[in-house]
Amino acid sequence: MTKNEIIQILDDWNFWNRDQKIGVSRPIYISKLESLFSSNQVITIMGPRRAGKSFIIRQMIKRLINSGYNSKDIMHVNFEDPRFTESGVSLLSKIFETYREYISAQNTPILFIDEIQEIEGFEKWVRMMHELSKAKIIISGSNALLLSRELGTLLTGRHLDMEVFPLSFGEFLSFNNISLTGKLGLIGRESEIKGALRKYIEYGSFPEVVLSEQKKEILLSYFEDVITKDLLRRFKIKKAQDLRTIVKYYLSNISAPSTFKSIERSLDMSITSVKSYTGYLEQAYLVFSLKRFSFKVKEQEKSPRKIYAIDTGLCNAVGFRFSENYGRLAENVVFVALKRKQNLNPNIELFYWKDIHHSEVDFVIKEGLKVTSLIQVCWNMQDEKTRNRELRSLHKGMKDLNITDATIVTDATEGEEKLNGHTVKIVPLWKWLLAEVG
Ligand SMILES: Nc1ncnc2c1ncn2[C@@H]1O[C@H](COP(=O)(O)OP(=O)(O)O)[C@@H](O)[C@H]1O
Ligand SMILES: [Mg+2]
Repeated sequence: MTKNEIIQILDDWNFWNRDQKIGVSRPIYISKLESLFSSNQVITIMGPRRAGKSFIIRQMIKRLINSGYNSKDIMHVNFEDPRFTESGVSLLSKIFETYREYISAQNTPILFIDEIQEIEGFEKWVRMMHELSKAKIIISGSNALLLSRELGTLLTGRHLDMEVFPLSFGEFLSFNNISLTGKLGLIGRESEIKGALRKYIEYGSFPEVVLSEQKKEILLSYFEDVITKDLLRRFKIKKAQDLRTIVKYYLSNISAPSTFKSIERSLDMSITSVKSYTGYLEQAYLVFSLKRFSFKVKEQEKSPRKIYAIDTGLCNAVGFRFSENYGRLAENVVFVALKRKQNLNPNIELFYWKDIHHSEVDFVIKEGLKVTSLIQVCWNMQDEKTRNRELRSLHKGMKDLNITDATIVTDATEGEEKLNGHTVKIVPLWKWLLAEVG
């Protein structure tokens, strides 16, 4: 590629000669980025395709410019741009040289390198630039492992990570122009917020989906993109049909426990394929697996895992029966909210709990070495039998783990319950979500 071609592409992405669309602001991520910025480390921004990483980068650039940076000292390059016809580290070097020559040669620049996993061998280049203090570097990508593993070995202790997820319920409300300032903001608006929650669960919270009327079409095209670009192409998978089968299986079996073996049997696929595909899906941030809590690591590894999806809209778009499974989708929403919390506090670990009598608690939250709280999602508290079963399980879990802090998340019921001599909070999902971070 010629330098002229390169500069044209860069010009389209940057604020040098134009303003850029930055969309609805996402202050949670901007303040986290700002706090990471003060360190002298490489910053990574990771998250699923279309979660809004590039928009957040632009919001950050705008912020820097507003705080006094010269727009020319900041460069954003996005390797998703199909006009890049070359690749590899040589392209990266050429882009940097071109930028230095045409745009800014003096100050140490800030480089935002987007979808960097497209560049094979990027880690060495990033490390060299960082060590020689040639630039402040922020990289982003849609593959969890690629970024953390490769960087982990090359940039040990030299990078700070931030994960971007689709919108939290709080962000979702602000994208829908529903603003809730302070406690007063909630009064008289319950039904509006509950209606919004239903949409949040049905269509999920990818920003573009939230803002568009063509929700289902967009979700299906995201699904295809993840399958073809993030999975088939990236991992050079030949058996496309098998991959689709397992993705659909997971997305329609959220919250159900499974083992590699049980999937091998029900999908008639080799256990090696099941294992490696599952790993790829997790790397692409499409699904997460939740392990059973145990004090013994071996038992933890052997027990069935539960799978949750990054976005309930995706589950519904690929054929999950929404109305029959509202409770499970709500549980998925709680799980993703806990993952979001984990992003901000990496000390948190998540599990589910189950005893030999099949009593279950949906989520166990561990902080450092200590289990700190339990969460039970119960979608049918009005039904006496369900209510008693869920309370009994939670009671057992609290006793087994010696925990006093527990919450039951419901569709509508609110109140308290005494269990084990301790007060358990009963909170409707919408309230619980708004009380969580973001
Ligand atoms: N903050 C935002 N405000 C408005 N729209 C957004 C915002 N973030 C993302 N979008 C919409 O979602 C699409 C995907 O976002 P993008 O930032 O490109 O995701 P990623 O870089 O994570 O793949 C954008 O093209 C835009 O339509
Ligand atoms: Mg992007």
